[in-house]
Amino acid sequence: MREQKEEYWGKFALTYDNDQEYIAGKAILQAITTKLHEERDLGEVIEFGCGAGYFTKVIAGKARHVIATDLSDQMLEVARVQLQKFQNITIQKANCEDTSFPSERFDTVFIANLIHVVENPMRVLQESHQILKDRGLLLVVDFTSYGMNWFEKMKLGIRYLKKLAMPPRHSRNKLSPDELVSFVENIDFKVEEVRLLGDKTKAVYLRGRKA
Ligand SMILES: C[S@@+](CC[C@H](N)C(=O)[O-])C[C@H]1O[C@@H](n2cnc3c(N)ncnc32)[C@H](O)[C@@H]1O
Repeated sequence: MREQKEEYWGKFALTYDNDQEYIAGKAILQAITTKLHEERDLGEVIEFGCGAGYFTKVIAGKARHVIATDLSDQMLEVARVQLQKFQNITIQKANCEDTSFPSERFDTVFIANLIHVVENPMRVLQESHQILKDRGLLLVVDFTSYGMNWFEKMKLGIRYLKKLAMPPRHSRNKLSPDELVSFVENIDFKVEEVRLLGDKTKAVYLRGRKA
């Protein structure tokens, strides 16, 4: 399953950022970027599933250092090129469901558009909890069809299939803010903020603190 997933995402690495703009639309990507710009002093950051680095560059402006990780070598290659001018980003391969980072190593864990594609989101959140320092920040943003009208959902589905074909078996795309809150509270994070961003297409944005 891991190899299958790696191969699926790897195929789209070169065009992923453009595909994402086409599928989700520039408006939601801009809404996420604007929200991320409100973050301050993120310190030592680990990003899971960085893809081609679309949001990594925003986070890097708010952090001392970012380790941007992904399962796919092809995605990491593209990220390495696109992020080369940033002195404070290190690119590294890691499976977010089973990393080898030491406990309490990071100030912030950043996860963008990954929770809906991983096999076991609770495992990713547990891993995040373990590698965060005490009072560390969990920052999750995830595309969702929750709150979208039927017509927009249909159009989104067609745009997705056109660009990325059938998603891996574990994709789930209806995550509500309440569901995400219950996921992270289960792992002992205290939720500081959760909101649904976007108009036609949407994303859930959550800030949680390691309790
Ligand atoms: C939907 S893309 C999001 C990319 C990026 N975060 C963004 O928002 O532009 C999901 C990414 O997660 C990666 N991924 C999937 N499963 C993973 C895992 N178990 N560990 C690390 N990365 C994973 C994929 O290779 C892909 O690059």
